[in-house]
Amino acid sequence: MATPSSFSIGSTLVLCIIFASLIALTTSNSLADLCIKCQSPRFCLQVFGLNPHRNPYQLTVEAIHLTFTNASDTTNKIHTFLDQTNDDNLKEIYNYCLNYYEASIDILSDAEEHLLRQGIYDTLSNIGAFVQEVGFSCEDRFQEIVDDSYVSTLTQNNNNMKNFGSIIIAAGNLLSNSTSTNNN
Ligand SMILES: *[C@@H]1O[C@H](CO)[C@@H](O)[C@H](O)[C@H]1NC(C)=O
Ligand SMILES: *[C@@H]1O[C@H](CO)[C@@H](O)[C@H](O)[C@H]1NC(C)=O
Repeated sequence: MATPSSFSIGSTLVLCIIFASLIALTTSNSLADLCIKCQSPRFCLQVFGLNPHRNPYQLTVEAIHLTFTNASDTTNKIHTFLDQTNDDNLKEIYNYCLNYYEASIDILSDAEEHLLRQGIYDTLSNIGAFVQEVGFSCEDRFQEIVDDSYVSTLTQNNNNMKNFGSIIIAAGNLLSNSTSTNNN
């Protein structure tokens, strides 16, 4: 006999996730409006969880904060990798990525401390675009070494940045549109 129990646990879980996402989508216009505009709506729903009681401003603050935490975590990871390698090419790649990740952390903390509090929302799309660029540039760097090619050890982290960047862009649009009276 096959094992129906493991199948049903797996499919029940999938059903729960779909059901929970649908609840989120039908009960929260802001969360739905935001996630539907993202590169990966599924990633967006996962990182925000299912509390629907958040307005565009709260979602934006949370997006910036989650991205900041994530990028900081990746920075620590890169430091560890840097300590562990004697390969000069890898050192160069990791330092390159580190510069990008650290720049994004500065920008995100500035956004958290100043821009959002001052109601400056129009730069959010640039910030989001930069966060995406961090992911793309770091990932590409592994293939850009002359005469040698490396398998990226940061693919997952870089993909997170691409997705977080797209969330920040969408959140910025949502926020600007929800607070402005003319939508030209
Ligand atoms: C970064 O984001 C990813 C995707 O949501 C998540 O799996 C991971 O746990 C996050 N890391 C931290 C430190 O928040
Ligand atoms: C907000 O406005 C921008 C253009 O200013 C548009 O591209 C975007 O789709 C709008 N977003 C929403 C959620 O309506």
